[in-house]
Amino acid sequence: MKHILSFLLILIISIVYKSVVVNINQHLVARSAIPIVDKTWENWNGAIKITPDAIFKPSTLEDLIYIVKLANTNNKTIRCIAQGHSVSLLSVTKHYLVVVTSLNRITIQEHPKYGWTVTAEAGTSFADLDEALRNHKPSLTLNSETVYNTFRVSGVLAVGAHGAKTTSGIMADQLISMKIVIGSGDVCEFSEEINKSEFVAAKVSLGLLGIIYSATFRVQPMYNLRMNDNYIPVNVWLNPQTIKNLLDSSDGIEIFYWPFNGFIQSDPKPLDPNRDLLWVKNWVKTDEVVSFTQQQIKQLREVQSQGLIHQYQIISSILQTPEATPNVTTSIWNAFVSAGNTSFVFQAPDAFHYISSEESIKFELIEFGFKIDPDYSNVADAFSFLIQTMYEFAAQGKFPLNYIAEFRIIKSSNALLSTTFDHDPKALYCQLDIEAALDTPSWKEFAETIAQRFFDKYRAKVHWGKGFEFLPNVIPYLSDVLSDQIKQFEKVREKYDPDKIFFENQALQNIFNYVLDS
Ligand SMILES: Cc1cc2nc3c(=O)[nH]c(=O)nc-3n(C[C@H](O)[C@H](O)[C@H](O)COP(=O)(O)OP(=O)(O)OC[C@H]3O[C@@H](n4cnc5c(N)ncnc54)[C@H](O)[C@@H]3O)c2cc1C
Ligand SMILES: *[C@@H]1O[C@H](CO)[C@@H](O)[C@H](O)[C@H]1NC(C)=O
Ligand SMILES: *[C@@H]1O[C@H](CO)[C@@H](O)[C@H](O)[C@H]1NC(C)=O
Ligand SMILES: *[C@@H]1O[C@H](CO)[C@@H](O)[C@H](O)[C@H]1NC(C)=O
Ligand SMILES: *[C@@H]1O[C@H](CO)[C@@H](O)[C@H](O)[C@H]1NC(C)=O
Repeated sequence: MKHILSFLLILIISIVYKSVVVNINQHLVARSAIPIVDKTWENWNGAIKITPDAIFKPSTLEDLIYIVKLANTNNKTIRCIAQGHSVSLLSVTKHYLVVVTSLNRITIQEHPKYGWTVTAEAGTSFADLDEALRNHKPSLTLNSETVYNTFRVSGVLAVGAHGAKTTSGIMADQLISMKIVIGSGDVCEFSEEINKSEFVAAKVSLGLLGIIYSATFRVQPMYNLRMNDNYIPVNVWLNPQTIKNLLDSSDGIEIFYWPFNGFIQSDPKPLDPNRDLLWVKNWVKTDEVVSFTQQQIKQLREVQSQGLIHQYQIISSILQTPEATPNVTTSIWNAFVSAGNTSFVFQAPDAFHYISSEESIKFELIEFGFKIDPDYSNVADAFSFLIQTMYEFAAQGKFPLNYIAEFRIIKSSNALLSTTFDHDPKALYCQLDIEAALDTPSWKEFAETIAQRFFDKYRAKVHWGKGFEFLPNVIPYLSDVLSDQIKQFEKVREKYDPDKIFFENQALQNIFNYVLDS
C-alpha cells in the first residue's frame, strides 16, 4: 500500500512537472521555452565561446513561435545552433541563442509524387534519422550524407553541407520542403511547388530567413554500396584522366592525402614527395550482401574511435615540435595502411558514415568548392598545389598540415548560397577540404596560401560551416563571387525578416552590405 501511494505521488508530481507553465514577461510559457541566462555557450572545438542575453532550448514549434515573438517584444535578435560543429561565427549573437537539439521528431510518409519521404524536426541527428529510416518497413535511406552522423538536420542544411555521392549534390538538394518560423513569428513553408525562387533561397539560408523548424526529404529504398579503399602513388594517380575514369565508374569518390606518408623513418632526409601515396576511396551501388552485421559495425566504430583518439593525442603532442610531424604522421599512416587495399559492402548510411563520429577530437578546418573544368585538369592542379605547398612550408620548418586533405566531386545545386550554385544543373563541383589539429602553428598562413590560389585561379567559394572569416580580404572577395545570388537572396530575406531579427552576424552583414551598396 505504502509503495503504491508513493508511486502514485511520484506519478502525480511528474505529470504536474511536465505540464507546468510559468509566467514570465506576461506570457504563459512552456518550460522548454524558458530562457537560460548568464550561461556561456561553446562550439564543438571550443574556438567560439559566447554569453548571450539568453539561451533557449525549445522542444516544440510553439516554443519557437513564442521565442520569436518575445524577441520582437524585447527588440532582440536571434541566431540558432544545432550540434555546434561549425567553426565559422554563424551562431554568434549578443541576444538570443536558440539551441534546436530538443526538436527531434521524425515522420515517415508516402507522398503521391515523391514516393517515400521523411519529415524531421530541425534538431534531429542523422544517426537518429538513419535508424528510423532503416527500421521502417520497407527499409529506407537518404541518398547522401555528411561523414559524421552526429550533425543535425538544420545545421547541415543551413550551411549547405554535403556527402560524396556525385549525382546527389548537397544535402539540401534532397529536400522537398521545409518549414521556417519567420521574423513575424509565423510559420512558412517553402517548396519548389509553392515558390521556386524562394525555395532556392531557403535551401541554404545560413539562418537568415528565420528558425528552421522542420525539413522534408525524398528518401530511397535501402540500398547497398561497395566501398573500395586503395592506396596508390600520388604521381601515378593524380591526373585528370584517372580522376575522370574513377568518377565515371563510381557513385561517389573521396580522395585523401595524409601528410608526408612516404617519409622513411630510417632515412629522414630529404623529404621526398615522390614516395607519397594517395588514399583513393570510391563507392559503387551493388546488389551484393553486406560484409558486416550491425553489431560488427558498432564494434568497428568503437575501435575506430579509440584509434582516432590515440592518433589525435600523438599529433597534438608534437604541436610545439612541428619538425617531428613527418615522422609522426608516417607512423600513423603505416599502421593505418598495414591491412592493404580493402573492399567491403555496406548499407548506404553505413557507407556514408564510414568512420566513427568521434567528437572529442578537434580540428581546424577549411573547405573550398569550385567548378571543375570539363577535362578535370583543375582538380588535379588544385590537389597537387596543396601537396606541393605543404612541402614548401616544410622546407621553411613549418608543418601546418598534420591531419588530412581530401576532395569529393558533386553536381551543382540551384540553392543560391551553396558553394556549388550553378545555372547548369549538370556542372560538377570539387569540394576540397583541409584539416589540422586544433591550434596547429602556421595553419592560418597555410590556409591563406591555398585560399589565395583557389580564389585567383578557380573563383572558389568557401564552405560556410568551416573556417573562413580569418582569410584576408575574404569579405569583398565573397561579395564579388556571390553578388548575383546575394541580390536574389536578399529579396527573399527582406520579405521574411524585414526587421533583421535573424541578421546579426557580422561577416554576413558585411558581405551583403558590400553587394547591396555597390
Ligand atoms: C569533423 C567534421 C566533419 C565534417 N564533415 C563534413 C562533411 O562531410 N561534409 C560537409 O559538407 N560538411 C562537413 N562538416 C561541416 C558540417 O557539416 C557543418 O559544420 C554543419 O553545420 C554541422 O552541423 P551542426 O548540426 O553541428 O550545425 P551547427 O554548427 O550547429 O549549425 C550551423 C549553422 O546553421 C544555422 N542553423 C542551425 N540550426 C538552425 C535552425 N534551426 N534554424 C536556422 N539556422 C540554423 C546556424 O547559423 C548555425 O551557425 C564537418 C565538420 C566537422 C567539424
Ligand atoms: C532596438 O535595438 C536597436 C539596436 O540594438 C536600437 O538601435 C533601437 O533603438 C532599439 N529600438 C527600440 C524601440 O528600443
Ligand atoms: C592497391 O590498389 C592499387 C590500385 O588498384 C594497386 O596498384 C596496388 O598494387 C594495390 N596495393 C596492394 C598492396 O595490393
Ligand atoms: C619517430 O617515430 C618513432 C615512433 O614511430 C619514434 O620511435 C622515433 O623516436 C621518432 N624519431 C624521431 C627522430 O623523432
Ligand atoms: C515568388 O517569390 C518571389 C520572391 O519573393 C516573388 O517576387 C514572386 O512574386 C513569387 N511568385 C509567386 C507566384 O508568388
